[in-house]
Amino acid sequence: MKRTLLTLLAALALLPALADEGMWLPSLISERIDDMRAKGFRLTAEDIYSINKASMKDAVVLFNGGCTGELISPEGLLLTNHHCGYDAIQKHSTVEHDYLTNGFWAMSRAEELPNEKLWVRFLVRMEEVTDRIAAGETAAQIVEKAKAEGTGYKASVEQMYYGNQQFLFVYEQFDDVRLVAAPPSSIGKFGGDTDNWMWPRHTGDFSMFRVYASKDNRPAAYSPQNVPYRPKKHFSISTKGVKEGDFTMIYGFPGNTQEYILSDAVAYIAERSDPAKIAIRTGRLDIITKAQESDPALRIHYAAKHASIANAWKKWQGEALGLTRLNTVASKQEYEQAFQAWAQDKPEYRDVLKELKAEYARIFDAYFALELMSETIRTGELNRIYNRPSFGDEIYPQVKALNRDLFRVLYREYYDNCPQEYMVPLFAAEVERLGSPEAYAELMFEATHKEDESTEAPELEALRADIRTTVTRIFEELGKCSTRNLNSERLNELYTTYIKGLREWDTERAFYPDANLTLRVAYGKVGGYQYADGVYHKPYTTVEGILEKDNPEIYDYNIPQRLRDIIAAKDYGRWGVEIDGRTTVPVCFLADNHTTGGNSGSPVVNADGELVGINFDRTWLSTMSDIAFDPAFCRNIALDIRYVLFVIDRIGDASYLFEEMDFAE
Ligand code: ARG
Ligand code: ASP
Repeated sequence: MKRTLLTLLAALALLPALADEGMWLPSLISERIDDMRAKGFRLTAEDIYSINKASMKDAVVLFNGGCTGELISPEGLLLTNHHCGYDAIQKHSTVEHDYLTNGFWAMSRAEELPNEKLWVRFLVRMEEVTDRIAAGETAAQIVEKAKAEGTGYKASVEQMYYGNQQFLFVYEQFDDVRLVAAPPSSIGKFGGDTDNWMWPRHTGDFSMFRVYASKDNRPAAYSPQNVPYRPKKHFSISTKGVKEGDFTMIYGFPGNTQEYILSDAVAYIAERSDPAKIAIRTGRLDIITKAQESDPALRIHYAAKHASIANAWKKWQGEALGLTRLNTVASKQEYEQAFQAWAQDKPEYRDVLKELKAEYARIFDAYFALELMSETIRTGELNRIYNRPSFGDEIYPQVKALNRDLFRVLYREYYDNCPQEYMVPLFAAEVERLGSPEAYAELMFEATHKEDESTEAPELEALRADIRTTVTRIFEELGKCSTRNLNSERLNELYTTYIKGLREWDTERAFYPDANLTLRVAYGKVGGYQYADGVYHKPYTTVEGILEKDNPEIYDYNIPQRLRDIIAAKDYGRWGVEIDGRTTVPVCFLADNHTTGGNSGSPVVNADGELVGINFDRTWLSTMSDIAFDPAFCRNIALDIRYVLFVIDRIGDASYLFEEMDFAE
């Protein structure tokens, strides 16, 4: 009885047809369009992706290789997240012009700020090239041919379903992208790392750029002669808003998911890798946070560092919790057993699971050793020489004290956790010689923090060299593979077969290829969720919530006085709308679109393809959706476009920007 129930639950958990799960290839969206329309979408597959006419894909860009952006005017105006534009905003910030703290609003085209090495890419087209490759053409030849098609063209061949299918992606890249607007961090990063990955959320996570092109509208390096790019397509904006149950679609560049990995890999992630990495980062964050609280100069010095350590740290916690709560290891095991039963009499598939499991067992320790190194003895803080501080002498003593603590903690973590067989030999020998990892940490700390002017630290060079040798040795064991995820050359080959088998066997399942930073469509609906017993999370927040969190004492919650005054007086003007019987301005909303890292900045559109929001995050327990999507819990977080407009108008006084936008009726 219990077993049947478990099987049933497992089957339910893995039945995507019920859920709004999936990240679909735009060129194949006609296969999903009936489902989309049944869920409320009113446009066609051609409106989403077409090579014959302007379509939505022409208004979506890969923003600098890690985020998504969308065009919102015929004059190249682009919207993305504040955290995606963060680097650019930071680079323009000085003590006199602190755009990070105070925000930046270009009041004319002439005031827009150029950014070195900031680029955006439009998808020109994509096409399956599996047959061409089978016929003997190499991926490199296909790419070269495609690149020759136009100015600024980039191309790549990407694997789908572990190489069962190959797709060519042809892009047009623009390198003159200028900063137009950014709200103060107290709006754009409101709530900081505390609110990050959380709901209820009130972060105004947006920034604006403009794409520039040559006079004939082609990609061109920065030049004052360049003119605003005229995109084939831009999104019109809907201020009608969305409510629970409304259809939403997200068009963007999700980076990395692993939906088809075996239970063995899930167990490795949830039980071994995530917990170890979380513990190590907790130690690192404790040290850094304490320093930051002790001195405002240190708070600034470590701001970006803290944000990047905390982002994955918090994500992994949610992921491990979610996988445990959903019992993903057990449900995957059941699924594998069912597959095996089917595969038993099929020579092509009979042994694939067994071999996959054997390969996992072979590489777990080696891969763990790699992960551990990057989290400990290969971190930036431990691999620098600090005798010439580039950050100002005043805080050097504190940075030094902090580094000493970091060395001790991280050397200890590496020593305690690294499988013997894969420990960097010099490290092991030095710990042996000196008696403890702490003693070795002290030695390395002294070597990298000498008061004299020399920049040498032969001890560090020696350790680095030995680390490199160890990494090479591990890579030899793993073979040719990307190690972005737990991976090896052999695993990849076996997964090619396994996925092929899965698709033959599980005909009910709606398969989609794992995210790999290629353009995808996700669709679903606005919706809250049952967060805990007795706690339902409504799918939207409003500006009053900002005032509730407002706290001038806490940096991340100290909103601009102007915003404080507006909300206190409910002086919303034309931005006020009725929600739950009161006049307010909406801030963020939840939907069950399947998204991941890279989808930040993606356009969120309604049933008519009009822009209603900008995607920027997921809730904590959703982060497992990189491995298993749970429709009951997985929610993406979007910024309501109406809050964006309100901030542009009332905080930035930049409503002149509205003139070039299209507002849907
Ligand atoms: N969690 C979001 C994403 O993964 C936003 C991260 C940036 N914000 C922050 N407070 N660290 O990237
Ligand atoms: N915040 C992520 C990003 O930067 C999005 C996510 O992981 O949901 O792409």
